[in-house]
Amino acid sequence: SAPVITIDGPSGTGKGTIAALLAERLGWHLLDSGALYRTLALAARRADVDLDDDAALGALAERIEVVPDGERVWLDGEDVSAPIRTAQAGADASRVAVHRSVRAALLDWQRAAARPPGLIADGRDMGSQVFPAAVLKVFLDASPEERAMRRYKQLKDKGLDANLPNLIQELRVRDARDRERSESPLQVPSGGVVVDSTELTIDEVLAQVVSLAQQ
Ligand code: CDP
Repeated sequence: SAPVITIDGPSGTGKGTIAALLAERLGWHLLDSGALYRTLALAARRADVDLDDDAALGALAERIEVVPDGERVWLDGEDVSAPIRTAQAGADASRVAVHRSVRAALLDWQRAAARPPGLIADGRDMGSQVFPAAVLKVFLDASPEERAMRRYKQLKDKGLDANLPNLIQELRVRDARDRERSESPLQVPSGGVVVDSTELTIDEVLAQVVSLAQQ
């Protein structure tokens, strides 16, 4: 069907920003797969479903309608783009994401996003599991310190409370869970190109990714 470019990597590497800019540049659709995991986690909290219960989460995922729409996402007709952005929803998302039935249920929602003229898919397993035939697979990385620092500045810019040691600790927990789970662990996909953004600005990363896309 439509060509797909995948952008995977841990949090705080600028994946989401790069994916959105690249989609705009190419005029392609954008899939923020993390938003789907966050939405399922939010739905689970609201329905009092145990975040560690694989079967119950799978059943919930079958029951709800989740529609990704560029930078927004809809849950049963409600725009949940704001409530899924809390730190709690992010931590909850990484908890529900370890479950096999959850990952299976989200597969169809994600693949349905690959429509002409093309799709930029941002996540953890876009290149390894969801779109293995992607035309370009980017793995965006950066040092944990730099990633925590970026999150810190983002929060401060929004006038929110932020504590750097706590952010580093949270990032370590999330990274470990994403990399060590048995279902679709975060890893460089086969055929993937690693881009290290530790010392690069957003513009420099975008330029590198655009030039890879043109090869
Ligand atoms: O933006 P941030 O990196 O904080 O998180 P996100 O991309 O919104 O994803 C939230 C969580 O969902 C991640 O920590 C992963 O555990 C999970 N996730 C996943 O397992 N697979 C994906 N394709 C995307 C997200």
